[in-house]
Amino acid sequence: MSTIKHTLIGPFRQVVTMARLPLKGALNDEQLEIISEAGILIKNDRIHQIGNYWDLYPEAQSIGAEIVNLKGDFVALPGLIDCHTHICFAGSRAKDYAMRNAGKPYLEIAKAGGGIWDTVTQTRKAEMEKLVQLTVKRSNRHLKDGITTIEVKSGYGLSVEEELKMLRAIKVANESTFADLIPTCLAAHIPPKDFQGTQRDYLKAIVEDVFPILQAERLANRIDAFIEDTAFTPEDIQSYFLQAKEMGFDITVHADQFHTGGSQVAVNFGAISADHLEASTDKEIELLAQSGTIAVALPGASMGLGVAYTPARKLLDKGASLAIGSDWNPGSAPMGDLLMQASVLGTFEKLSNAEVLAGITLRAAAALGLNDRGQLAPGLLADIALFPTDDYREITYQQGRLKPLKVLKNGVEV
Ligand code: NIG
Ligand code: FE
Repeated sequence: MSTIKHTLIGPFRQVVTMARLPLKGALNDEQLEIISEAGILIKNDRIHQIGNYWDLYPEAQSIGAEIVNLKGDFVALPGLIDCHTHICFAGSRAKDYAMRNAGKPYLEIAKAGGGIWDTVTQTRKAEMEKLVQLTVKRSNRHLKDGITTIEVKSGYGLSVEEELKMLRAIKVANESTFADLIPTCLAAHIPPKDFQGTQRDYLKAIVEDVFPILQAERLANRIDAFIEDTAFTPEDIQSYFLQAKEMGFDITVHADQFHTGGSQVAVNFGAISADHLEASTDKEIELLAQSGTIAVALPGASMGLGVAYTPARKLLDKGASLAIGSDWNPGSAPMGDLLMQASVLGTFEKLSNAEVLAGITLRAAAALGLNDRGQLAPGLLADIALFPTDDYREITYQQGRLKPLKVLKNGVEV
C-alpha cells in the first residue's frame, strides 16, 4: 500500500504566497502574489501545487486526494515564523512592570540583581521536566496563533550544566509540540554572578564544555550573545564568536538594544541576524544594509520597556532585510503576541502589509537559515495559517485580534 497522502484544500478567497519576493529592501503590497479562488494540493508534509481550486480539482480527484472543502471565507498565509524568543523559563517578573513604571530602568533593575538574573535563579530551581512542560505550553499557544516555527533561546542557565539542561529541555519540548522549535545557545546572555573567574574564563568554559556537547547531542547550531554594557563587550566576545564560527555554528547577536556596538560585531562575524537595534543610528543602519546580516526588530521589547521601536522604515529604505520577532521572555517582552506586535510596529514605522508579513514569514525563515518554509510554493512545507476573512489586509488592520481559525503544520491540521 502506498504511503503517499494527497489533500486538496480550498477554495480560499485568497492565498498570499509570499513567493518570489526579494530578501532585502522595501516592499510594496503590489509585489505580493495573491491567488484568489485558490486551492492548495498537499502531498504528505509538502505543498504539491497551488493554483485555481477548480483547475486543481480534477487532478486531485483522479489521484484520490482527500478533499477538504472550506466553507466560508478564508485567507491563507504561510505558517508564521517567530525568529526570536526566550520561552524556556520558569517564574514570573511581574514586579518589574511596576518597578519600571515607577522610574527604575531595565538596566538599573538588572544592576540591582533583578532582571535576567532573577529569572536565572527561578529557572535553575526548575526540574528539566518542568521546563519542558512550560516550553510546550507556550509553543502551543503560539501555534494556535498560526506560528508554526519558533526559535527558542537558552540563556537563563548561565553555567555549563544549567545551559545544557535548558537546551535539552528545548529538544524534548520540540518532540512534544507540533511546532518546530529552533534552539539557540545564549549562554552569553549576562555574566553569571556566581562564576569563579573572569567573564572571559566563563566564556572559555562554555566554548570548551558546552559547544562540543551541543554538536554531539544536536542541541543547537546557533550561538547568540547579548552585547551591552551590563552584559558582554565587543572585546569580550571576540574569541568566543571566533571559536563558535570555527566550529561551524551560526552567529546571532542581541545588538544595539540600549547602546550601539553589537551590530558592528554582528556584521564583522557575518552573523545570520542582528536583533533588537532600538538604539541603532544611521551608521549602524548603513552597516546592516550593506551586509548579509538580517535585521530583526522586536517590537514586543519596545512595548514592554516603553522605549523607541527599531528604525524599521529606515532599515528597509536603506536596503536591509527586516524580520520581526516577539522576543517573548519574562522580562522585557512578556506579552508574546507576534502578530499584534508586528502589526503595531507597522503602524508606528509606516510599513506596508508586504513588509510586515515578510518579516514574520520569509524573512524570518532566512534569519533562521531555513529555506523550506516562509512561503507557500511547491516543494516547501505545508505550514499554513488560515484566517477567517475575505481580505488579507484585515490581518494587519485588526492588529492581531484576527486569529487563524485553522493551522496546518507539515500538512496536518493541529
Ligand atoms: O532580548 N536583552 C536581553 N535579553 C532579553 C531579555 C531577557 C529578560 O529580560 O529576561 C531581550 O530583551
Ligand atoms: Fe531577546
